[in-house]
Amino acid sequence: MAGRLRIVITGGTSGIGLELVRRLAPRHDVLVAGRRAEADALPALPAGVRYVCAPLTDPEGATVTIAEALLRAGWVKLDNLVLNAGTGFAVADGIETPQQVRETLAVNLTSSVLLARALFPWLEKAGGTLSFVGSVAHRGQGLFPAYAASKAGLHGFARALKAEWAGRVAVQVIHPGPTRTDMHEKAGHDPGRMRALFLPADRVAAMMEGAIAARRSPVTVSFGRHLAGGALWSGRL
Ligand SMILES: NC(=O)c1ccc[n+]([C@@H]2O[C@H](COP(=O)([O-])OP(=O)(O)OC[C@H]3O[C@@H](n4cnc5c(N)ncnc54)[C@H](OP(=O)(O)O)[C@@H]3O)[C@@H](O)[C@H]2O)c1
Repeated sequence: MAGRLRIVITGGTSGIGLELVRRLAPRHDVLVAGRRAEADALPALPAGVRYVCAPLTDPEGATVTIAEALLRAGWVKLDNLVLNAGTGFAVADGIETPQQVRETLAVNLTSSVLLARALFPWLEKAGGTLSFVGSVAHRGQGLFPAYAASKAGLHGFARALKAEWAGRVAVQVIHPGPTRTDMHEKAGHDPGRMRALFLPADRVAAMMEGAIAARRSPVTVSFGRHLAGGALWSGRL
């Protein structure tokens, strides 16, 4: 296990991201980037966690804001960047509206690409790890076609960067399966009784921490993995 790490997590104010923050904050220095105003975000976060408001609907603005927050914090290197924030909109049939498509791609894909690009020097100094949070939906799934496309894009981008940055920065993509968070409600989707089969967010975050520590890619963090006891993914950062 490494010593105290410097970790940035996007979308750390709810769901899987918040559970990951709760796991890591007692042992590491964590900076959360979110869309909420600081006054709304800080009460939800563990003591000592830094926060920056950087809505990813503006990928370029958010990238500058997060880089500036690192400079303000005096962080010259970054051990882990976890690009976890995500959004989606359920559609009964067809494709999300143009505005929903723009927002989905901006938050899930464009921001991830720009943040990876901008924060590479920090990660390289630490020989760090960049973790993209995708989704099993990257294989293609009805109900959220643009969301699925954004996650497929992340998958391809992660594979490209993994080759590009080999030996300098570890790159991985982690694909969670259905997880009990507020994401479905925010997306306007009621999974009904299927929700009972979804994994709890803290369990997914635990397996995700193990996957990050193992630096494996691509990784699916799903019910099957859970039934297998988390297998390789029980390590800690
Ligand atoms: N839940 C699932 O079944 C599932 C399955 C596969 C993959 N995933 C992926 O797992 C990741 C975490 O999702 P989750 O289930 O934990 O959902 P969640 O609870 O809704 O968390 C998503 C996070 O992203 C943030 N976010 C959304 N739009 C944003 C924006 N415009 N700017 C900045 N931050 C924004 C949210 O902020 P607020 O806290 O302010 O809402 C929240 O912190 C996402 O990438 C999602 O696609 C989830």
